[in-house]
Amino acid sequence: MANAKIPVETLTEEEAAAELANLAAEIARNDELYHGQDAPAISDADYDALKRRNEAIEARFPALVRDDSPSRRVGAAPLPTFAPITHSRPMLSLDNAFSDEDVRDFVNSVYRFLGRLPDETIAFTAEPKIDGLSMSIRYENGRLVSAATRGDGTTGENVTANVLTIGEIPNRLPAGAPDVVEVRGEVYMAKSDFLALNEKMAAEGRQTYVNPRNTAAGSLRQLDASVTASRKLRFFAYAWGEMSSIPADTQFGMIGVLKSWGFPVNPMTQRLTRVEDIIAHYREIGLARPDLDYDIDGVVYKVDELALQERLGFRSRSPRWATAHKFPAEQAFTIVEKIDIQVGRTGALTPVARLTPVTVGGVVVTNATLHNADYIEGIGNSGERIRPEGHDIRIGDTVIVQRAGDVIPQVLDVVMEKRPSDAASYVFPKTCPVCGSHAVRERHEKTGRLDSVTRCTGGFVCRAQAVEHLKHFVSRNAFDIEGLGAKQIDFFFEAEDEALRIRTAPDIFTLRQRQEASPLAKLENIDGFGKVSVRKLFDAIDARRSIAVNRFIYALGIRHVGETNAKLLARAYGTYDAFATAMKEAESLSGDAWNDLNNIEGIGEVVARAIVEFYKEPRNLDVLDRLLKEVTPEAAEAVVVSSSPVAGKTVVFTGSLEKMTRDEAKAMAERLGAKVAGSVSKKTDLVVAGPGAGSKLDKAREFDIEVIDEDGWFERIKS
Ligand code: IVH
Repeated sequence: MANAKIPVETLTEEEAAAELANLAAEIARNDELYHGQDAPAISDADYDALKRRNEAIEARFPALVRDDSPSRRVGAAPLPTFAPITHSRPMLSLDNAFSDEDVRDFVNSVYRFLGRLPDETIAFTAEPKIDGLSMSIRYENGRLVSAATRGDGTTGENVTANVLTIGEIPNRLPAGAPDVVEVRGEVYMAKSDFLALNEKMAAEGRQTYVNPRNTAAGSLRQLDASVTASRKLRFFAYAWGEMSSIPADTQFGMIGVLKSWGFPVNPMTQRLTRVEDIIAHYREIGLARPDLDYDIDGVVYKVDELALQERLGFRSRSPRWATAHKFPAEQAFTIVEKIDIQVGRTGALTPVARLTPVTVGGVVVTNATLHNADYIEGIGNSGERIRPEGHDIRIGDTVIVQRAGDVIPQVLDVVMEKRPSDAASYVFPKTCPVCGSHAVRERHEKTGRLDSVTRCTGGFVCRAQAVEHLKHFVSRNAFDIEGLGAKQIDFFFEAEDEALRIRTAPDIFTLRQRQEASPLAKLENIDGFGKVSVRKLFDAIDARRSIAVNRFIYALGIRHVGETNAKLLARAYGTYDAFATAMKEAESLSGDAWNDLNNIEGIGEVVARAIVEFYKEPRNLDVLDRLLKEVTPEAAEAVVVSSSPVAGKTVVFTGSLEKMTRDEAKAMAERLGAKVAGSVSKKTDLVVAGPGAGSKLDKAREFDIEVIDEDGWFERIKS
């Protein structure tokens, strides 16, 4: 993923090659999800970050550019169901600018390429970048003859029948238009039409759509054009492909011609010469953005004079004469309709704001996380006021929400002027909304401060905790049982027939036997399951009867034991039996077993206590007993990268790091076979200290441990 990143300047050729391969695969996968299935899995910003990283690595290692590099492709291959149409001229992509600086660079590069001096002004058009689907519509002798999606830029899908149903696209051109005309532009769905459609779908109990763009894409790719006709699709023309003659000599002039032929063109298109004016127009469009009835994700700048466009020409996949200035994460105003409390696996009560649906950055947002009671009150994790003025959040409040990347939307602030006069401060529940047990905020033993999390004390009696436990157990990084996801767990948990019920993890593995023994309960007769899927499910369950010990430990859902800690424990104890025996021996929180546990680098006392507590609970032991009759945890093989200069070494990072985040540093070290510890001990081999390093550095000196700085680290791992 985009996170664990080594700075491009420090990548070795080998790492670069490996990362380019990963990026090609990941970008291709996302292209397919976005274009092929209309179901994006990551945000545009994250996607752009992947592409930029790919480009940066390629710029440094041009020899490593792959044949399947994302920089050589545009979009995704066409879907097989529509006949292919090869574009008479390729449908290209645009380069991106993310800052004012990037825009200046773009403008300067145009001047430089054309050998123009700054006083020999060049005009640019600036117009909104519509977040829809690009379409090429061909007219011959004034009649619409074909329409194609972009596809992979060379070949698109023939969607002529569907495009003919779009009212805003003329089927005929006025007399006098050239014999061959290819109009290019964006098909989109208005936000208001999208919301109305979703309301209708919801009222009919049908699945709602994610955002206008994907809905437009889905509507257009209907094999039955009458479905397309029933959806209100719209169009903006902004470019052209083949033309038997060109009726204007500027971009701006061409837009005027397209308009005169009956195509909708964007009213915010302007022709500007100075960079300052271009950037000012970008800001203006940005301000208008929330009120527009269509999604836009930036502003496109194009060199106005067509003769200059011609001279500038293209790079492999984008024109030198145009660029897209992207908008940062979008914000929107909406209303908090109510606040629900969700109960998680560890009993944490998490408040969620239910919002009046609003599109933010092209996605309909209906929920925002409110984290905890303090957050609602306007208090941060260290007791500080949060949000610009520390306003609390109340039901009925108008709030600003932001969606950054694919994370759950956040409430940025409250619009106090719009607070209803009767809005009362939110009272956080004192009991669990699911099981009714007391909900408490624990006090931190050492600091005496109240924990920010309110927790249900119901434990095993709380259904919410039990269900979430199971969902965690089957999740991707735990047992990862195909066909047994969150939805199925909900079903099996509530199953009326006992032979089909799953309440604890071992029940998963006895399911087949129980339902085979039962005269009545037959999974294959239940809606949503068929003979084949039932067989597949049981096979998938059987496939996990043996599992790596670290996954097994992680799956138990012990508090504070995430994947990393589970790996540390697996590495330290080797086998599950050794681990479990030691945890039971550590019961008294003293003695050898307890000390050994605490001496594992990376395992602190809070974690150690949580594990020991888990093994003290008889109900956990009962579940484990039953589970171990069904499942065998396999000792994980130690992965040692023996060639790395830090393999097998225990490394501590301290102070502030400037070229990488702490997480990146850790991932990098682990990838190279090192163990990363949180504190310095005699077992530490190397300390990487940045500015501001304190006690850990002192300790390293005391124990005479080698200390290097961040540059030293990169130097070391390069060799
Ligand atoms: S011009 C050769 N203008 O953005 C350049 N594209 O990222 C042709 N888009 O494939 C494209 N609004 O789907 C242009 N006003 C606009 C646009 C626009 C949206 C899309 C289009 C293009 C993509 C490139």
